[in-house]
Amino acid sequence: MKVIWNSQIVDREEVKIDPEDRGYQFGDGIYEVVRAYNGHFFGLDEHVDRLYSSADKIEMIIPQSKEEMKNLMIKLLNESDVQTGNLYLQATRGVASPRNHVYPDMSVLPTITGNVTAVPRNAQKIENGITTITEPDIRWLKCDIKSISLLGNIMVKHEAHKKNAEEAILHRDGIVTECSASNVAIVKDGTIYTHPDGNLILPGVTKIVWLKCAEELGIEVKEEPFTLEQLQEADEVFCSSTTIEVMPIHTIDGKKVNGGQRGKITEQLAEAFKLKIEEACGELL
Ligand SMILES: Cc1ncc(COP(=O)(O)O)c(C=O)c1O
Repeated sequence: MKVIWNSQIVDREEVKIDPEDRGYQFGDGIYEVVRAYNGHFFGLDEHVDRLYSSADKIEMIIPQSKEEMKNLMIKLLNESDVQTGNLYLQATRGVASPRNHVYPDMSVLPTITGNVTAVPRNAQKIENGITTITEPDIRWLKCDIKSISLLGNIMVKHEAHKKNAEEAILHRDGIVTECSASNVAIVKDGTIYTHPDGNLILPGVTKIVWLKCAEELGIEVKEEPFTLEQLQEADEVFCSSTTIEVMPIHTIDGKKVNGGQRGKITEQLAEAFKLKIEEACGELL
């Protein structure tokens, strides 16, 4: 299996992670997940832009230019036998010894790794949706950085798992932010509401695309905070991410949303999103 190792594509066995790598010791790193369909990336520019924006926010310098990074990712995809799947790419602040919280000087280069995994599109779930619970948002206050330090996210996701739910919808003092691994939106009386970008949520690449779809469909969107009560009284609720696209939420804390069915607006957005993928990557079977 081929993987990205710094600026090269190598066999997986050649990768050596140092025990003093700051990603390994501090969770000091950032990442991206990019989806490929039919051997083509979807939204690669936006994902690479966000990677470099995360790097800026933590004062990490990635030695490659954005173009070089994209070429590396495309090369890995082409050298793998994956047609439809996910590329995971991470950059840590590199190896520095002795262990010290302070950032090392710029001569220490990031450790960059990446791999591609085949993951089929889950058309059934995109139609039927997922079950969720609500949980306090226990994460830090820089959720706009796509940090590899994901303890807060995985702890709430595990709570969901323990309750036989597939995702946790997070709230801070009753204001819904996002989910453990996706953005969330509600529909009420034909208008979509979703938390505005800022430090409390990750600015989703999928959200950029569905916002465009909503605009093209003439559906009103209000990027403003909404409450847990509004969530519970919504006509439709959906979440979005690179790996799940636009996915309905059919149950929240054991209570059905829209009688457990995907709502009309969620369906329109999911279909429009699928067309965007097909324009970029070819027909989805
Ligand atoms: C916490 C969180 N919010 C939102 C998203 C959605 O981001 P994107 O649409 O870019 O995948 C993700 C994706 O992994 C996420 O982990």
